[in-house]
Amino acid sequence: MNLRKILPTAILLLFSQTAVSHNSECLEPTNNEFNRPCIERLIPRSLAVNRTMLEPQASLFTDDSTGSMSAADRPLVAVLGASGRTGVYVLEELKSRDVDIRALSRNIETAKQKVDGDFEWVPADVTDPKSLLLAFEGVDILISTIGSTGGDNSEMIDYEGSINFVEAAKETGVSRIIYMSSIGAGGAENFSTVILNLVANKTMKWKSLGEDYIRNSGIDFTIVRPGGLRGEPGALGIRFEQGDEVIGWIPRGDVAAVMVESIFNDDASNKTFEVINDESLPIEAWKDEFINLKEGEFGKIATGDLPTTYWLTPLVILLAIIYLIRRRKKRA
Ligand SMILES: NC(=O)c1ccc[n+]([C@@H]2O[C@H](COP(=O)([O-])OP(=O)(O)OC[C@H]3O[C@@H](n4cnc5c(N)ncnc54)[C@H](OP(=O)(O)O)[C@@H]3O)[C@@H](O)[C@H]2O)c1
Repeated sequence: MNLRKILPTAILLLFSQTAVSHNSECLEPTNNEFNRPCIERLIPRSLAVNRTMLEPQASLFTDDSTGSMSAADRPLVAVLGASGRTGVYVLEELKSRDVDIRALSRNIETAKQKVDGDFEWVPADVTDPKSLLLAFEGVDILISTIGSTGGDNSEMIDYEGSINFVEAAKETGVSRIIYMSSIGAGGAENFSTVILNLVANKTMKWKSLGEDYIRNSGIDFTIVRPGGLRGEPGALGIRFEQGDEVIGWIPRGDVAAVMVESIFNDDASNKTFEVINDESLPIEAWKDEFINLKEGEFGKIATGDLPTTYWLTPLVILLAIIYLIRRRKKRA
C-alpha cells in the first residue's frame, strides 16, 4: 500500500462533495445559509421568470379588498397532483368544504379513469409554464401534492416545477399556496436527508430549494412536511413540529386533512412544519395547533453538500491512522 498515493486521493474524495456540488458558491460561510441573489442566479434562464421577491402578503381571509377573494366568496381551489395517492384524499376533503374544485393532471383522460367523482379536470404540467397559466385562471388557492415520478427527476419537478407554478400563480392572482413537501427538506444534517441527497439525485436539496422559492414568493403559503407516508387515515393523533428534527410516519389521508384545514385556518399562514402520527395525542387535537407554529421557522436548507460533521471526523481518524502507521514504519 502506497500511503503517499492514498492520502491525497482520500482527501480529494472527501472534499469533492463540497467542491463540485451544484451551488456551494451560494452558501454563506458565516451562517451556512443560502445567499438569495445567488440562488436566484441558479434559476435556469429558459424559465424566464420574474425574479422579484416580495414580502409575504396578508392572510387569505383578511378584509383586504384588493385581494382576489373575500370571505364571502366561494373560493376556487386547484389541486396539482390531484390524481396522485395524496391528491385523491385532498379532493375528498375539499368535497366536504364550501369551495369549488379544479383537479389538475398532465393527462386528464387517465386521471378521470383513476379518480372517482365529478371533478373539473384541467391539464397542467409543472414543466410547461403555459399550461399552468391556463390551468390557474380564476384560481384562488393552489394545493400541490405533486412528486417526481417515472423518468422525471426531482430538480425538474420539485425545484423548477415549483418556480414555474409560483410564477404562474403570481401572474394569475392566486392568493394562497398549500404545498406538500417532505420531512428532511429542512434537515440539512439529518442522516436520511444526507443519504437521499447522496444516492437519489440530491432529491432533498431540490425539495428544499422548491420550498424556499415558495416561501419567498410573496404569496401566502403553508408548507406541510410529512414523514413516511403509510397507515390508515384518522386513526391516530397528528403531531406538528418545526425545525425538521423529527422522524415518523403519517397516512396520506391525514396529510390531506392538514393541508385542506390549512386553507381555512389563518394561523396556518406563512408557516412551514412537519407532520407525523403520534398515538399519545387526541385524534382531532391537531386542529388547534396551528396557532403554536412560528413563521420563519423552517430548519436548515439541505444544500446537497456533505455536512462538515459527516466528513471531518472520518478525515481526522484517517489522518491519525496514517500518522500511526508511518510512525510505526519509521521505528521498525
Ligand atoms: N413516499 C413517502 O414516504 C413520502 C414522504 C414524504 C413526502 N413525500 C412526498 O409527497 C408527495 C406526494 O407523494 P404521493 O406518493 O402522494 O404522490 P404520487 O402518488 O406519486 O403522485 C404524484 C402526482 O404528481 C403529479 N405529477 C408528477 N409530475 C408532474 C408534472 N410534471 N406536472 C404536474 N403534475 C405532476 C402526478 O399527476 P399526473 O400523473 O396526473 O400528472 C401524480 O399524480 C411527493 O412530493 C413525495 O416526494 C413522500
